[in-house]
Amino acid sequence: MSETGINEGDSAIEGHRVEGRDKVTGTARYAFEHPVADAVYAYPLQAPIANGQIGALDAAEALAMPGVIAVLWGGNTRPFGGKDFELSLFHRSEVTYRGQLVGAVIADTQENARAAAAAVRVDYTPAEHDVVLRADHPGLYRPEKINPGLPTDTGYGDVAAGLAAPVLAGTGARVDVTYTTPVQHNNPMEPHAAIASWDSASEHGAGTLTIYDSTQGPSADRDTIATVLGLDPGRVRVISPHVGGGFGCKGTTRPHAILAAIAADAVGRPVKVALTRQQMFTLTGHRTPTIQRLQLAADVDGRLTAVAHDVIEHTAVRTEFAEQTAACTRVMYGTRAMRTTHRLARLNVPAPSWMRAPGETPGMYALESAMDELAVALGMDPVELRVVNEPAAEPGTGRESGLPFSSRNLVACLREGADRFGWAGRDPRPGVRRRGRWLAGTGVAASTYPARRRPSTAAVDKLDGEAVDGEYEVRIAAADIGTGARTALGEIAASVLGVDAERVRVILGDSDLPDAPLAGGSMGTASWGSAVAAACEALLKDGAHGTADTTDDVAGDSGWARHSFGAQFAEVLVDPLTGEVRVPRLLGVFAAGRIINPVLARSQFIGGMTMGLSMALFEETAVDAAAGSFVGQDLAQYHIATCADVPSVEAFWIDEDDPHLWPGGGKGIGEIGITGTAAAIGNAVYHATGRRVRDLPITPAKLLAPV
Ligand code: MOS
Repeated sequence: MSETGINEGDSAIEGHRVEGRDKVTGTARYAFEHPVADAVYAYPLQAPIANGQIGALDAAEALAMPGVIAVLWGGNTRPFGGKDFELSLFHRSEVTYRGQLVGAVIADTQENARAAAAAVRVDYTPAEHDVVLRADHPGLYRPEKINPGLPTDTGYGDVAAGLAAPVLAGTGARVDVTYTTPVQHNNPMEPHAAIASWDSASEHGAGTLTIYDSTQGPSADRDTIATVLGLDPGRVRVISPHVGGGFGCKGTTRPHAILAAIAADAVGRPVKVALTRQQMFTLTGHRTPTIQRLQLAADVDGRLTAVAHDVIEHTAVRTEFAEQTAACTRVMYGTRAMRTTHRLARLNVPAPSWMRAPGETPGMYALESAMDELAVALGMDPVELRVVNEPAAEPGTGRESGLPFSSRNLVACLREGADRFGWAGRDPRPGVRRRGRWLAGTGVAASTYPARRRPSTAAVDKLDGEAVDGEYEVRIAAADIGTGARTALGEIAASVLGVDAERVRVILGDSDLPDAPLAGGSMGTASWGSAVAAACEALLKDGAHGTADTTDDVAGDSGWARHSFGAQFAEVLVDPLTGEVRVPRLLGVFAAGRIINPVLARSQFIGGMTMGLSMALFEETAVDAAAGSFVGQDLAQYHIATCADVPSVEAFWIDEDDPHLWPGGGKGIGEIGITGTAAAIGNAVYHATGRRVRDLPITPAKLLAPV
């Protein structure tokens, strides 16, 4: 096994992105920027109540305002048969969350539409709402499955006996602690936007629909839009060549795209919709808050005798989203007994959705914080505690698989990270190190994320026939959301074709290209790369053209537990007077299979770690129980880490040569970097101060609160 220090090579020169020039010169077009003749603008009307009924709508005043073309609502738009509550716009009489779309104003400019929206009068009959998640919520229920189809509860062994074992033996230790995490929101740089146009607008709904959308997956977006509108998918085309970030919030079709489509149908002209930053907080999903009880027990040598991870989270009234928060615990550590459970409360909130490593991010925060508490209780080094609990096989996926790991290098990551960070000789006593007025501490946590792929198709052509130095064109409905997918896929194609990457052009971001899965679940490169590589192999046999469909290959992905692992080390400084926390240093070492492009990979790891730091210290969407709403819906109040907050984030990796993955050998790198980071920082804050804050984010107020 070789180790690649990304700070040591010169790959920054080789690692440029093929669309880099277009982006920095402003010629790369994002969803809202495509030139479309004769377009008008739609501005959403959102319910100001969290529960109740919609009554009459009076648009007279709005319709008389400058530039206003139409006011759309349930009373004047064509009903369609969509089942998705949030996407089947305007034809629900009930409101189940504050911010629900009830109509839209269409005008000649965005400003005129927005001004007129304030003049539309809508009658509501409000009812009692409930937006606060509590551990004793009377509506808690057990969902049938958790995402993405995993068992809700799992268990093996005698958990009660395992938890009691250290007490009975009079040695070892146990912890029983509860962590809470808040509502969080994706905030990519590019807000969601769409432009919709019908090619025969005079016949309502009869033509074909073209949508420029900010999406993580053109094929899936097309399919969802077609289903919601009751159209054959062949009549919908989604175009999305560049996407300004998306951490899951662009992974499912959002209401703005449906709004653009039905508004364009209604007025017979192309319609543009750009969500404001504030509207994103109700219309583009969020990470569920969690309440997580962790019970761990270990013998005197630190070997786990029981692990119980019981999760409470929320979902929406009409949409179930069951985040897989404890699923990570099923793969992490060997133990004699384990239980994982998930319970949901249906609240008057928009449906939660994906946000970078949904499940693993809050779950690993809780598990890895509890492991640190157990290490403290045992008087054991937290790196060693993790090492002694390294399992021989996957402990319990809920299928009770006991599957062997295709490769697992958590211990190597911990050792390498400890070396690089300078962990050896760490004084475990909390609250005893000063640096000037600051209290100093260090912490460690593990990371994990599944390595999966989905079926994909792809096509490749040699563009100029027999020319030896010809060019190749790869076509696939993949999405480059800022990750560098276009660049990485070109490199994968080039390596199979045996040519320089400069000779391969990758066309993506269009649902008319060969169908492909989402940029999501850290599966993009493996899914698309499998298809691109297979298409290139087919071309080598044919000479000029190749296509591939990896459905059968992917169906054979069984028999191994495939996961990435990592170790994160954090150094913090805490001001004992103000409670301010600084993180002068974060260092991660990851084992994520073969790294396809070091520069792009480094960006993903560092980006994930930065988002984890942001989660630890800043990110929280406050919930207003009285108003039934999320509050602080902008970047002034929803704090996200800035450059000044992350003076040093270093990412390293261990190359894994894992023969049980796809031919390119990568495990996926988009999400592992955020998992575990918040725990490493929380553990360092404890080490610095002796205060264990179990409620994210770790704010000055919580650190200064009387014990
Ligand atoms: Mo990511 S939450 O898989 O887009």
